[in-house]
Amino acid sequence: MNARRVAVLLAGLWVGGVWAGGGWADEATTRGDAAAGGRIAVQCRTCHGANGVAQIPVAPNIGGESASYLASQLAAFRSGARENEMMSVVAKGLSDRQIADVAAYYAGFTATAEAPAAQPAPPACVACHGENGIAVIPDAPNLAGETAMYLDTQLKAFRSGKRTSAVMQPVAAELDDAAIRALAEYFSAARLVVR
Ligand code: HEC
Ligand code: HEC
Repeated sequence: MNARRVAVLLAGLWVGGVWAGGGWADEATTRGDAAAGGRIAVQCRTCHGANGVAQIPVAPNIGGESASYLASQLAAFRSGARENEMMSVVAKGLSDRQIADVAAYYAGFTATAEAPAAQPAPPACVACHGENGIAVIPDAPNLAGETAMYLDTQLKAFRSGKRTSAVMQPVAAELDDAAIRALAEYFSAARLVVR
């Protein structure tokens, strides 16, 4: 048997193995090990806290976000699709496995929030981010209790195209600076509790 034939056979076995395993490869990348993630989170807690409550105003709360959202953002920082001087460096050092594990760890907390009583919830946002800023769809992040500065920065990044999202870019394109400010203040006033 020549080398080429062996290579073809091995490739076939590998593909067959992944398929026959009922998608284990998929699970390995999407369903992380939260305990292993807790050890990785030692690198994250100065900025995001041990339970995912931010310790510095420029960092977001990540405790209780969906694992799929957390993993997608870490992958985006690693690939350069999303850029930040701190997170781009952090994410470059993480393997797929570590991303899945640390995402599982922070997703293991539960985030709840109360909607700010003073103002009505912004109708353009609640279908995905909830009245209280706790996301109602798994692909969307929680906005409750983020600093107004963080929310303002992200909305402007979507508007300028610095941060890309098929969903959020068209939403942000409709917003002027004053609207962004008001939305950022609304969601930052929602009191977040992470357990
Ligand atoms: C030195 C501070 C710092 C460290 C350490 C750090 N982060 Fe971050 N993280 C940030 C900042 C700042 C942002 C906001 C980036 C931006 O403005 O786009 C961020 C954003 C994120 C986001 C995006 C959240 C969202 O709501 O979109 C995730 C997920 C994240 N970090 C996970 C982690 C993980 C996991 C670790 C550890 C492996 C980590 N970070 C370590 C500062 C840090
Ligand atoms: C159809 C669903 C949908 C609607 C409506 C929507 N969003 Fe989003 N939003 C998303 C998704 C999905 C993301 C994650 C984008 C990504 O993958 O980077 C997001 C991300 C964000 C972020 C980034 C948060 C973070 O942690 O980094 C902000 C801020 C935000 N949205 C604010 C708003 C505001 C304010 C409105 C209303 C004007 C709104 N969104 C309407 C789905 C939505």
